[in-house]
Amino acid sequence: MNTTTDNSLAPSLVQSLRAGTREMHERLDKAIMAADPFASLPGYARFAELQYLFHRDIAALYAHEALQYILPGLAERQRLGLIAADLADLGKALPADDMPPAFTAGEPVDVPTALGWLYVAEGSNMGAALLRKEAAKLGLSDDHGARHLAPAAEGPAAHWRAFTAGLDAARLGPDEEARAVAGAKAAFDRVRSLADARLA
Ligand code: HEM
Repeated sequence: MNTTTDNSLAPSLVQSLRAGTREMHERLDKAIMAADPFASLPGYARFAELQYLFHRDIAALYAHEALQYILPGLAERQRLGLIAADLADLGKALPADDMPPAFTAGEPVDVPTALGWLYVAEGSNMGAALLRKEAAKLGLSDDHGARHLAPAAEGPAAHWRAFTAGLDAARLGPDEEARAVAGAKAAFDRVRSLADARLA
């Protein structure tokens, strides 16, 4: 029985995703800030490489038809091209990775799992507001080097609300919700291992 989405006392999907990953997010924030990537341009370039590899993992999801239906405007949210432009601004080649991307265009995708990964990528825009201020101290801007940290035209909060409204309207059953939370955890794991390998 799926009463979860009809019961206003039950947590929404976004609340479950947030609660299920809160500790992972806190640990990731601390690990990133401890590595202090915003102290220098080479440090920032390593952070941009991390972002590139994470967003490369999920690039196929932004073009996925069913996900675009659930999340209107999804394709326009994709930041991989902006991160590539940031790396070019910094005189860096696109980083190579031994692993294939987590999702590949044309291959079947478990939609709830994909929603969890996208929650992490889109949620990271909220922290981007802080990171953008740090990048500005290095002389970077929305037009040079820190394009992918620029806020959406309507503002980060409104942009985030539109995304989370789509997630919460997806009406997942309990098993699907559990897969979404597992997807979000896998995404945080992936970012964490990139941070450990590239920033530490
Ligand atoms: C690439 C690394 C990061 C990822 C994947 C990430 C992920 C997320 C996610 C998923 C959310 C949304 C949480 C929610 O409201 O449901 C979020 C929010 C946020 N993040 Fe991060 N984050 C990252 C790095 C950082 C860093 C380094 C900081 C700063 C130290 C930070 C600070 C914040 C803040 C302040 C919010 C907003 C909290 C709020 O307004 O409720 N994040 N991030």
